[in-house]
Amino acid sequence: MIISLSNPHSPFLLLFFFFFFTILTLHSLTVTSATCHVDDETGLLGFKSSITADPSGILSSWKPGSDCCTWSGITCLVSKRVTSLYLMGQSNKPNSFLSGPISPSLSKLKFLDGLYLRNLRNISGPFPDFLFGLPEFKYIYIDNNKLSGRIPGSIGNLTRLYSLSLSDNQFSGPIPSSISQLTGLTQLNLGGNRLTGPIPNGIQKLKNLTLFSLDRNQLSGSIPDFSDPSRSSEFSGSRTTNLPGNSRHRFPLWRQNCSTSSSPKPVSTVKFPNFSGISRPSTR
Ligand SMILES: *[C@@H]1O[C@H](CO)[C@@H](O)[C@H](O)[C@H]1NC(C)=O
Ligand SMILES: *[C@@H]1O[C@H](CO)[C@@H](O)[C@H](O)[C@H]1NC(C)=O
Ligand SMILES: *[C@@H]1O[C@H](CO)[C@@H](O)[C@H](O)[C@H]1NC(C)=O
Ligand SMILES: *[C@@H]1O[C@H](CO)[C@@H](O)[C@H](O)[C@H]1NC(C)=O
Ligand SMILES: *[C@@H]1O[C@H](CO)[C@@H](O)[C@H](O)[C@H]1NC(C)=O
Repeated sequence: MIISLSNPHSPFLLLFFFFFFTILTLHSLTVTSATCHVDDETGLLGFKSSITADPSGILSSWKPGSDCCTWSGITCLVSKRVTSLYLMGQSNKPNSFLSGPISPSLSKLKFLDGLYLRNLRNISGPFPDFLFGLPEFKYIYIDNNKLSGRIPGSIGNLTRLYSLSLSDNQFSGPIPSSISQLTGLTQLNLGGNRLTGPIPNGIQKLKNLTLFSLDRNQLSGSIPDFSDPSRSSEFSGSRTTNLPGNSRHRFPLWRQNCSTSSSPKPVSTVKFPNFSGISRPSTR
């Protein structure tokens, strides 16, 4: 459209278009800031509806029709898509827990890349398989709950994972060898479960690991040696320390920046970084 300044009506036309576009813009801003994406809201409400007990009201702000980006534990991108779900039970409050399984409806959250269900004590059921439909997933912290069953072999498909913590659950069976495909892992904590069998040798390939804990399980075999400085050549040059005792032997297992600490601390005393709220694990 061409508006000629010589046209005596053009100031009115300009004014008209100015108001028209202002109203359009305001309208679209209001619409996008009123609610989060409908799929995200539906997925989160599905998660909430599978929770059978929430005595301290951890999910009390999760109300249909309100902007799910403002619900407790939710982080959104600017585009109003949910990227992380962070719920943590308070240790000093006995009723700060959630019961029930992790609903697969979370698979509707197509931009979700972090799931933090920490110290909720009574989240149960198997490993949340819906994560395999979100191949870009980066952070899994489902610790101090009651998840059970095996850690699926498909865990190796989540090749973008930075952190995997399933500590203090009731997982049983072996550690899948596919875990060695998670080459971007910086933290791996499977401590405090009922895992059995050997530690997959390929774990030595995870060069970016800074925190590694398998303590308080019933693993057997040898401890992978991370301290070898020539560790770049995968299996070659690896030394293994034989575990004393038999497959029922319980042992601490650690790796906390071996190159700088001459006496490594057992991992059970190493704390996770404080990821409270919405901050991301810092990249090194
Ligand atoms: C924990 O979860 C289980 C299974 O969902 C349920 O039977 C049990 O009552 C829950 N415990 C509490 C304290 O809510
Ligand atoms: C994992 O990847 C393999 C190979 O691409 C595929 O066959 C399998 O279905 C995947 N598993 C899941 C649970 O997506
Ligand atoms: C390991 O960390 C380095 C430095 O942060 C990074 O450049 C590299 O891509 C990481 N490796 C993998 C496989 O993610
Ligand atoms: C160990 O820590 C030092 C100093 O904090 C750092 O420069 C180095 O990159 C770390 N090494 C590993 C393998 O994390
Ligand atoms: C984590 O950091 C927040 C803010 O810095 C603080 O309020 C909270 O007490 C910390 N939590 C733990 C477990 O250290």
